[in-house]
Amino acid sequence: MKIDVLTIFPEFFREVFDFGIVRRARLAEIVAINVHDLREFTTGKHRMTDDRPFGGGDGMVFKPEPIFNAIEQLLGTTEREKYAPKTRVVLLTPQGRPLKQSLAKDFATEADHLILICGRYEGVDERVSEALVTDEISIGDYVLSGGEPAAIVLVDAIVRLLPNALGSETSAENDSFSNGLLDFPHYTQPRDFRGMPVPEVLLSGNHAEIEKWRRAKALEKTQKVRKDLIIKGE
Ligand code: 6GU
Repeated sequence: MKIDVLTIFPEFFREVFDFGIVRRARLAEIVAINVHDLREFTTGKHRMTDDRPFGGGDGMVFKPEPIFNAIEQLLGTTEREKYAPKTRVVLLTPQGRPLKQSLAKDFATEADHLILICGRYEGVDERVSEALVTDEISIGDYVLSGGEPAAIVLVDAIVRLLPNALGSETSAENDSFSNGLLDFPHYTQPRDFRGMPVPEVLLSGNHAEIEKWRRAKALEKTQKVRKDLIIKGE
């Protein structure tokens, strides 16, 4: 998979993709991530990426031109209908569809080229969404100062689901949400830590009983903190 990130703060991404699973996936050439400075796609002597909103109001708005220029250069077209079938142009915005494990899975399996546009300020000129964007995504119901942290979250959630990104010692199948529930509790050595013992069943070697206990604990945790997951069953 190829991932291009469009941002006015390329420095923000300097080291975030250099650790753990994402780093390993890059080294194994499972994914290639490139971060682009939107300012490089501006024209005119002031190299402005933003301007005041038509109609008045607070804040600044991303101009369409640098984003159109960047997409034109990366994809050879600014007509969504002419994108390659597995190309997705994503705008990270609090107005987007909420990111879920199912959506990350969908991108990981159905896309081979992602372009992530990190919004800032009050917003992005709507013509970017009208002409270029295939998906608008939010990472949750709170406001960030910009789409950069959201892009990092999205990249991580997708890359770990790409074929062979996780080593054989780990698996995405048991992750929270992949079965619609939160994960069960984990324990390791020592068996007794400062008077706090590991649950007996985990030491029993009885795999059926361990599975049953884990399922019950996952359900109990989900019931307690995320009732919405059980009701919606997503
Ligand atoms: Cl994608 N962007 C911003 N600015 N705020 C957010 C968000 C995105 N998702 C949740 N809050």
